Amino acid sequence: MSFRRIEDAPSNKTALVRVDFNVPMADGKVSDDTRLRAALPTIHALQAKNCKIALLAHFDRPKGKRVPEMSLKPVAEPLGRLLGAPVGFAGDCVGDEASAAIQALPAGGVILLENTRFHAGEEKNDAELAKQMAALGAFYVNDAFSAAHRAHASTEGVAHLLPAYAGKQMERELDALNAALGNPKRPVLGIVGGAKVSTKLDLLQNLIAKLDRLAIGGGMANTFLFAQGHDIGASLAEKDMADTARAIMKAAEGKCKLLLPVDVVVATEVKPGVAARIVGLDAVGAEDKILDAGPETLRRLIAAINDSATLIWNGPLGVFEAPPFDKATVAAAKHAAALAKAGKLVAVAGGGDTVAALNHAGVTDDMTFVSTAGGAFLEWMEGKPLPGVEALKHG
Ligand code: 3PG
Repeated sequence: MSFRRIEDAPSNKTALVRVDFNVPMADGKVSDDTRLRAALPTIHALQAKNCKIALLAHFDRPKGKRVPEMSLKPVAEPLGRLLGAPVGFAGDCVGDEASAAIQALPAGGVILLENTRFHAGEEKNDAELAKQMAALGAFYVNDAFSAAHRAHASTEGVAHLLPAYAGKQMERELDALNAALGNPKRPVLGIVGGAKVSTKLDLLQNLIAKLDRLAIGGGMANTFLFAQGHDIGASLAEKDMADTARAIMKAAEGKCKLLLPVDVVVATEVKPGVAARIVGLDAVGAEDKILDAGPETLRRLIAAINDSATLIWNGPLGVFEAPPFDKATVAAAKHAAALAKAGKLVAVAGGGDTVAALNHAGVTDDMTFVSTAGGAFLEWMEGKPLPGVEALKHG
């Protein structure tokens, strides 16, 4: 299976490029430009080929209607600043306005087209809308790995109507994810945290089949501890998932070593200045909430990281937003990042909370790769084919 890459794309033509500019905004301004910066290598590569560049993207969930607050217009200016040249904006992603704006572009010029989700056909992967999009360019580039789990007109449909290429960010994501889970250096350790087992069931099942060790943290670890018969007091847990947790533990036997907390940090409330205690699993009080992994659990996790060649991480180990319950997450992240920086570990992380946790630990830049994707990263970790990626494959 292979992808056409930007290097193989034609010169002096119009490239229709799907990017993910679903960026955080505050007061009508882009408040985090990570996804804008992620698109720069592809734009630069196409400019070097003298192509005109028309950017297709969605923003938020306007559900097929024109919602003025969900316009992509505020993105054009900061993107232009990053590129060092103004980026034009067209008020529609198809039709005469878009086509005239593209016509007027100089070679190497960039135009951002309005939110694809203003059209009801986008999320329905409507063939007519895809055709209208395809009419705007000579070839299509998908650089939006983080939207590739959506089979929409701009991510999937249009890829079948024009010669389709993987963009640079798409390539980086796929290479990194392949190094972490597709064809990794072993042993491979996974760290999965977050609140709920129920939302990460497919992910856990896929990971126990592929990894050598899997550390489970965060709220979901409480469900596993409860399923093992421990008293978890007033901790967040999905008690109705106990059978499922036991089935996962059974399925992992002999294949993937599960690392569950052996000690925990508890408090009766999550609030600054509250008294936090480190306790063994037999000493969680009726009023206690488990809010972080304890020091012995952390010691074992660090030993497992040291013994691994590859780490794949999704989800924090505790309530990292509320120190002191960030200790285990920060310490494990710092340790993994230092090994990755020294070239001793391939450390790949992704998923909304995870990126926030790594930023909080100040180690994002030292990891081998941090995905820009949320939902797409999770679906990929679940082993599901991503329609936007599948549509780029040849032969
Ligand atoms: C994201 O922000 O994760 C992607 O852009 C997908 O957005 P969606 O969940 O609204 O499809």
